[in-house]
Amino acid sequence: MEVLLDKLHKVQDEFGFLPESEIVRIANEQGITKSELFGIITFYSRFYLQPVGKFVIRICKSLSCGINSAADVRQKVEEHLEIRNGSSKDGLFRLETVECLGHCGEGPIMTINDKIYDKLNPEKAIEIITSYQHKGEENA
Ligand code: FES
Repeated sequence: MEVLLDKLHKVQDEFGFLPESEIVRIANEQGITKSELFGIITFYSRFYLQPVGKFVIRICKSLSCGINSAADVRQKVEEHLEIRNGSSKDGLFRLETVECLGHCGEGPIMTINDKIYDKLNPEKAIEIITSYQHKGEENA
């Protein structure tokens, strides 16, 4: 299973989602049906079947982050990007509010793609996201 998940992550890293042609290719390589592979993909919330945004922002809403004002961070990010749990119109960002990201002692926690940002406050979160906006504009 670990090898299969690694393959799916590599495809998603390359395309930003899992194109059907790649799903068929991986299913054939693994000797399973496309339906079986879809079942695995849809079990994991971090795989996407269509483009969702270049930068996927996840903000933890679980208890430890919650008592450290994660809601304030989330609200500021929502206002800044003008989205709530969805993708920005420019296709640059997707915002998700999620359960524990495994860094409870350092919250509030936000991840952008695979990078972890800890001990956030609203201003720090916006500063970080603004740097990604600049990266996105440079690579547009
Ligand atoms: S509670 Fe937020 S990372 Fe665990």
